[in-house]
Amino acid sequence: MLRSRIIGTGSVVPARVLTNRDIAKMVETSDEWIQARTGIAERRICGPQEDAATLAEGAAVRALAMAGVDPVDVDILMVATVTPAVPLPATACLVQEALRARRAAAFDIGAGCSGFIYGLAVADGLIRAGSARTVLLVGAECLSKIVNWKDRSTCVLFGDGAGAVLLQAQDGASGIRSTHLYSDGSAWQLLVAPGGGSRFPQSERVLQEGLHLIQMRSGNEVFRLAVRAMEDACITALKANALEPSDIDLLVPHQANLRIIRALASRLAFPEEKVVLNIDRYGNTSAASIPLALDEAVRAGRVQPGMTLLMAAFGAGLTWGSAVITW
Ligand code: ACO
Repeated sequence: MLRSRIIGTGSVVPARVLTNRDIAKMVETSDEWIQARTGIAERRICGPQEDAATLAEGAAVRALAMAGVDPVDVDILMVATVTPAVPLPATACLVQEALRARRAAAFDIGAGCSGFIYGLAVADGLIRAGSARTVLLVGAECLSKIVNWKDRSTCVLFGDGAGAVLLQAQDGASGIRSTHLYSDGSAWQLLVAPGGGSRFPQSERVLQEGLHLIQMRSGNEVFRLAVRAMEDACITALKANALEPSDIDLLVPHQANLRIIRALASRLAFPEEKVVLNIDRYGNTSAASIPLALDEAVRAGRVQPGMTLLMAAFGAGLTWGSAVITW
């Protein structure tokens, strides 16, 4: 059977660390509150020379090196991001140029924190349809540049980073087994950065009112929706593959909040040792979070051939989804 197999992973994070104590000097919060409510201890923050394209390039170079594939052999290059390097063109085009992946068709995926799972579904569809053999998928975010550093309810949550996977068409049992995607646009206003687009173009007013920055309404509701939606997406994925939770070797969830991940794992009866976690060090890196966590798990030797992985994400849009992979 023709499957899309992940043959390389890579990730990068900026060198600059911002701890909870650093944030407590900017807004009224504390290390204790942030750790207890989110599980985040620190996050990485881009320097002035870094952006989503430079981070994406770094992660992509590592994924290509692990796979031993030349950039010129990439057919499709996708960057999942909500923080594109420039509004026009797609960040993927900047990465294509940096990598000299001159044969690749390049475009971005905008699906909030679910962008990586959405990208995985697109990559898998193109590969299975025979439209592409080798696909480079990167999740890259520079959220620190659109975070409102005066809003304690959101500025503690986010961080910067990038993760990449290289997928290739291969016959055999290993590869992507399923992807399931969902959206609910009726709740799009829960998590927005409304300014700077064609509805509220960049203006004095947009800047003064901070409309270009992330705003979250009702973190509590987002929390509840995230747990329920990811649980549903995981159960659908398990059923579609005739799997029980005990058949899954590793859960690689979007890293938004440790309590969200723990609630999801407990509803699915996954023991914590089967869950990949790095939220304590990076916070919520949106579309980058799953490939970043995956790459760390791969490089730590936690992912071995034949293992079954379940991934689940939830984010702005609202969007959510799941994927099952045999490594
Ligand atoms: N430090 C101290 N106090 C704070 C902070 C802070 N950084 N932020 C909020 N508070 C206060 C609130 O003002 C509130 O005070 P009040 O009771 O006097 O009004 C109190 O803490 C409790 O606030 P809640 O919002 O009820 O706290 P909660 O336990 O829900 O935690 C959090 C808030 C962390 C935002 C949580 O709701 C959450 O993680 N939600 C999911 C949000 C998310 O992950 N969004 C990212 C995008 S979507 C995704 O990736 C899944």
